Amino acid sequence: EYKRSRSWSRYPPGPTSLPFLGTILQVNFYNPHLSFNQLSKKFGNVFSLQYFWTNVVVLNGYEAVKDALVQKAEDFADRPYFPRYEHLGYNKCCEGLIISRYGPAWREQRRFALSTLKNFGMGKKSLENQISQEAGFLCSAFSCKEGHSFDPLFLIKKAVSNVIYSLTFGERFDYDDEKFQRLVEIFQQAMKEETGFLPQLLNEVPFLLRIPGVPQKVFQYQRASMSLVDEILNKHKETWESTHIKDFTDAFLQEVEKTKEGVETSFTYENLRLVAVDLFSAGTETSTTTLCWAVLYMLLHPEVQRKVHEEIDKVIGRDRSPNMLDQANMPYTNAVIHEIQRYGDILPIGLPHMTYQDTELQGFFIPKDTVIITNLSSVLKDETFWEKPHQFYPEHFLDADGQFVKREAFLPFSAGRRMCLGEQLARMELFLFFTSLLQCFTFQLNRQENVIHDKSSEGKRKDKERIDQVLCESWIPG
Ligand code: HEM
Repeated sequence: EYKRSRSWSRYPPGPTSLPFLGTILQVNFYNPHLSFNQLSKKFGNVFSLQYFWTNVVVLNGYEAVKDALVQKAEDFADRPYFPRYEHLGYNKCCEGLIISRYGPAWREQRRFALSTLKNFGMGKKSLENQISQEAGFLCSAFSCKEGHSFDPLFLIKKAVSNVIYSLTFGERFDYDDEKFQRLVEIFQQAMKEETGFLPQLLNEVPFLLRIPGVPQKVFQYQRASMSLVDEILNKHKETWESTHIKDFTDAFLQEVEKTKEGVETSFTYENLRLVAVDLFSAGTETSTTTLCWAVLYMLLHPEVQRKVHEEIDKVIGRDRSPNMLDQANMPYTNAVIHEIQRYGDILPIGLPHMTYQDTELQGFFIPKDTVIITNLSSVLKDETFWEKPHQFYPEHFLDADGQFVKREAFLPFSAGRRMCLGEQLARMELFLFFTSLLQCFTFQLNRQENVIHDKSSEGKRKDKERIDQVLCESWIPG
């Protein structure tokens, strides 16, 4: 008992907790990283919060995040349980991949997903060709706009979706296919149902989800996306042949077939639905958003865009498509892509972790089953690591000779055991889509407006709205 209280006396500090609510009033659930940045100024890089009854510890800055995810990898590898997904078929025995608890089922699925994606070409030439071809379709679709301004979001999203869709389900769609349109829109809306305070509340007070009609209303699109996946999987089940494994779903179904009765396994049909949704949603929104920021930053920084154009001209020219070997000869473009990811900061607080056992971090005691939030934004903008943390500055990734340099505080994919499983795929997509687009186009703002380089999030949002003013012009060399 004495030992316990002595440990708890070293629990990270934090704001005063109210009865029932805990410290939720301290957090802006639409932009939590901004609240965390503020709180870390007062309480330090490792501080505690309470979401209703749940203990939460927030890690800020490179040192704290690295110590946890890399040095104490296993202690921080668990995920909290999410009652709010139970209406989709998630439960303690069937958890998919992304929010699976740390344990044998997660390990089995993570290994399987990595090796299967590799078998289907992740990190290899075959997938490279496929992405390259998709980039060609994307450029054609941009060309069809004939220099008129348009919002590139949906076209980019369709191109990116096609890549992960064909890995997972074995086909791609034309961009004007109606079924595809519906699928992309439903997944987009489903993602929106994740943000804000309501999902947080429903997770903490899950009995609210038992009120008839509530899940149908609050998670309408998540349910619709699951139904779509069920449709796709049912078709697969009908046509599945063990001799012709053409995609991730087929490979998974093969594992389901192979499993002997009575053996404990995560290869069940119920789990396939969740894993498939996980891959598809993790693989679309992230790369899409990054590429949209890429276009936006090129609009805002024409001098950077010009240098990328020059490098493409020098290394690739106009007559052939970019390939992954080019990357090594294109330090500037590579640095620009890294800076887009750093400054774009698209998953500011990553995904929640949980302590797997009692642990110590930077002199603090953190008990098992504490929810851990990694403030990745504070790492990507850590003032002790980056020369100009709050500016778009590709030179962060270049040495004095203009060669590409890796930076340790570059953690957009997080780190450790739960690190992004699709990093290799994402890197291929970012490089091939970005260079293909810039090989073909110059991005310009439609109106001659003064774009304000505002560093606040408000400014960033305003900038983002401007993305529908993109003017794509065929790139005529100077
Ligand atoms: C997890 C970032 C693309 C699949 C994650 C995490 C981050 C991340 C921050 C959380 C890691 C953690 O919990 O510590 C990104 C970014 C991407 C990207 C920035 C693109 C620019 C992809 C793609 C796939 C993918 C294309 C498709 C295969 C996953 C999966 C997880 C994950 C399955 C969960 C891993 C686990 O819990 O073991 N990603 N991701 N991601 N990502 Fe990505």
